[in-house]
Amino acid sequence: MLLSVFLRTIHLIYFKFCWYTARVSKGALSSVVALGANIICNKIPGLAPRQRALCQSRPDAIIVIGEGAQLGINECQYQFRYGRWNCSALGERTVFGQELRVGSREAAFTYAITAAGVAHAVTAACSQGNLSQCGCDQDKQGYHDQEEGWKWGGCSADVKYGVEFSRRFMDAREIKKNARRLMNLHNNEAGRKILEERMKLECKCHGVSGSCTTKTCWITLPNFREIGNLLKERYSDAVQVEPVRATRLRQPSFLRLKQARGYQKPTDTDLVYLERSPNYCEEDRATGSTGTRGRLCNGTSSLADGCNVMCCGRGHNTHHYTRVWQCNCKFHWCCFVKCNTCSEKSEVFTCK
Ligand SMILES: *[C@@H]1O[C@H](CO)[C@@H](O)[C@H](O)[C@H]1NC(C)=O
Ligand SMILES: *[C@@H]1O[C@H](CO)[C@@H](O)[C@H](O)[C@H]1NC(C)=O
Ligand SMILES: *[C@@H]1O[C@H](CO)[C@@H](O)[C@H](O)[C@H]1NC(C)=O
Repeated sequence: MLLSVFLRTIHLIYFKFCWYTARVSKGALSSVVALGANIICNKIPGLAPRQRALCQSRPDAIIVIGEGAQLGINECQYQFRYGRWNCSALGERTVFGQELRVGSREAAFTYAITAAGVAHAVTAACSQGNLSQCGCDQDKQGYHDQEEGWKWGGCSADVKYGVEFSRRFMDAREIKKNARRLMNLHNNEAGRKILEERMKLECKCHGVSGSCTTKTCWITLPNFREIGNLLKERYSDAVQVEPVRATRLRQPSFLRLKQARGYQKPTDTDLVYLERSPNYCEEDRATGSTGTRGRLCNGTSSLADGCNVMCCGRGHNTHHYTRVWQCNCKFHWCCFVKCNTCSEKSEVFTCK
């Protein structure tokens, strides 16, 4: 996958860059930093101009951004592991994986989850002191709620910073002034909003033998799986929209629900799509579908992972194999373990 190559490239270049900067005197440092950032950022393929500029001003953040996008893609592959569409696509390759050309609900999901992934990774990096211009949330310090008797303590995750960074970087790739731009921006924002809504308050009691005379609380990031699960629900309830052109301007200026009367806009956390999805059965360059040939399927399930659905009626191949493992292990006095060898005939199915 291109993204992992991208990550390896920037790690390698960044490593060299740090090595260089460590070896030069302070006076020469700033020019070397500028030079290093130029080298890193010019080697990353497919960045939009504003992304390249942000990369050059914040080369430390670009690594975290790459890791955040990977977090999103991994979660996408997990969520869709049993689907005909498994989060991969043919066609246009970008640093954020491969992009779907059709403005479908699957495209909506990938935008939301990568935008949330970047916000999540940047926020986590800030909390751990890995980025130079951010840290713990400064607003959440000192007393907060005197009546309840707790105060802010520890490190509260600065999700506002992470979200703003994701917005600046991820939204900068939308350079075409078309309906798809509005769709992508909406879904980016929905992913980040869902992350913000899921931030958690954690508290700890202090006092003699577990009494809670004082309590400190802080904000933490949710596990990213939780965001993946929520976005999967949003994907199922995604709404179809159409662009509305403001008078006299040719550019689409906002989106409204397609099957609604009047101008009803989608809500902030709706995932929105413009076009119906292909069925993802066959490989098709025009839609970006990889098809399901060769995919593993379940011979007994009647759900999406079952061979009937997954293979789109083309049928499946059966592969027999024998699984061998150590079993019935007994401990003998003293001191050895004796096991039997068990085996089981097993089969897997793949789509024709
Ligand atoms: C912060 O940096 C440390 C050391 O390089 C690394 O192990 C850790 O994973 C980083 N954390 C984040 C959230 O990027
Ligand atoms: C998704 O399915 C395609 C087509 O069968 C396959 O080539 C690809 O490796 C799969 N990707 C993942 C992440 O499983
Ligand atoms: C196949 O599906 C059945 C029924 O949904 C399930 O019980 C079984 O564990 C699945 N098998 C595999 C190999 O995933």
